[in-house]
Amino acid sequence: SAEMVRIAFLKQIPPSQAWRGVAVTPIINGNWEIKSGPIKSGSSKSNSDRPHHPHVSPANTGEIIADVWDTTADHVEAAFAAARQSSKDWSKTPAVQRAETLRRAADLIELNAPKLVGLLQHEGGKTILDSVSEVREAADFCRYYAAEGERLFAETGITLPGPTGEENRLVLDARGVFVCISPWNFPLAIFMGQIAGALMAGNSVIAKPAEQTPVIAFEAVRLLLDAGVPPGTITLLPGDGRIGAALVAHAAVDGVAFTGSVEVARLINRTLAAKDGPIVPFIAETGGQNAMLVDSTALPEQVIDDVVLSAFGSAGQRCSALRVLCVQDEIAGEIIRLLRGALQELRIGDPRLVSTDVGPVIDADALKSLTGHVEKLRSFGKLIGEAPLPEGLAGWYLAPVAYEIDSISRLPGEVFGPILHVIRYAAKNRTRIIQDINATEYGLTFGMHSRLQHVTAETARQIEAGNVYINRSMIGAVVGVQPFGGRGLSGTGPKAGGPYYLPRFANEKTVTVNT
Ligand code: SER
Repeated sequence: SAEMVRIAFLKQIPPSQAWRGVAVTPIINGNWEIKSGPIKSGSSKSNSDRPHHPHVSPANTGEIIADVWDTTADHVEAAFAAARQSSKDWSKTPAVQRAETLRRAADLIELNAPKLVGLLQHEGGKTILDSVSEVREAADFCRYYAAEGERLFAETGITLPGPTGEENRLVLDARGVFVCISPWNFPLAIFMGQIAGALMAGNSVIAKPAEQTPVIAFEAVRLLLDAGVPPGTITLLPGDGRIGAALVAHAAVDGVAFTGSVEVARLINRTLAAKDGPIVPFIAETGGQNAMLVDSTALPEQVIDDVVLSAFGSAGQRCSALRVLCVQDEIAGEIIRLLRGALQELRIGDPRLVSTDVGPVIDADALKSLTGHVEKLRSFGKLIGEAPLPEGLAGWYLAPVAYEIDSISRLPGEVFGPILHVIRYAAKNRTRIIQDINATEYGLTFGMHSRLQHVTAETARQIEAGNVYINRSMIGAVVGVQPFGGRGLSGTGPKAGGPYYLPRFANEKTVTVNT
């Protein structure tokens, strides 16, 4: 039965202690360094030629996951040399073979699902459900881009119409070396998605994972090598923003794919713009100030289910998450009452327990900035309700909370955590409120609950967002089904998991033959 499969799967998840003592180093040309020795708490520089530090779990900061060895300037140079050299062969490898390699990577991701799920819980602080769907999404990206790429990168390209006596073809070429910089909130799916896209287009990849999640990245790159990605074609350089900055500033970059904050996206954009030489393409996926509109025809119970999942699921640490719930006056009292009750029901705790609904936020900095925002809300907002926070949790936990505020313009921008803002609106002001949402200049996800079809259709047209969800939750876009990504402050496009993604990793070439 399904229950037996579930129990068997849970039994295969390695205990978190299994990671203790793992060393994470750069992976260049298929090689990583074997480091050993006891890991001590506190920053340690003993017994080494360069800095390394213990990396702890957000679920329990007393648990060390791994010892992470920083990337040096020498590694950066070696990575570019390897990537440039290997891109010559990889770009000429037929698209069907590149696709086969990605399909093998997808198979390996699935075969290693229990281990990856365990790591997502332990290092990423994610619940079991979130971890399982993330593993699936990572495999989906590989298979989707394999299928799209086989077609797009076929050697013959596409034939275009032209006058008699002339043959015209459009083909796609690899760009060269892509730098992929990924976030901690989807440390496997977004990490693999960027890499799979760049590889499928025939590029070599230098991947810089978020400093909070290097272990998952280390595992993922070794799976790619096992799947047959040539050494040199995939490089892993763990480290903080300084490594990202060095990579982006390097003369040999042919493209950058980035997912993260809008501030860092601007920094990268400036660095690229200031460089001499070719114009470097930049693909950025950033945050959102995502809103949901609920009118008086909505079904309250369904609204609450979707609001709780969208705002507090994954501890609100999805770029798609709901931040601002706008409720029509007539229904606001009931929605707020139900929301208060739903908050009481949420179980906050260790994400490695099956019973947990909401795990920790990612690190001390995140907790500090979110707590600071809640402090401010106490002065300009009105508390609706707060989930109970159990005693004795040893990680970075924040109680999910909802506040009523009077205007979206009060918010400082994206608030990346389990904090929901609620605004009441009068029916006659629906267009105004949509204008206010558009005026934030973010445009990632948007939700609406209403049984009036002409209203949902009109709202979907008016709203300037990348992903619009009607009468459902607004998280969990599925690869190839809901291509994901926004506009304005939310990113440059193209959408991940969509048909226009791969061409942005390539150069177009038209070949005209006078026959
Ligand atoms: N792709 C994820 C989602 O749709 C984003 O953060 O929830």
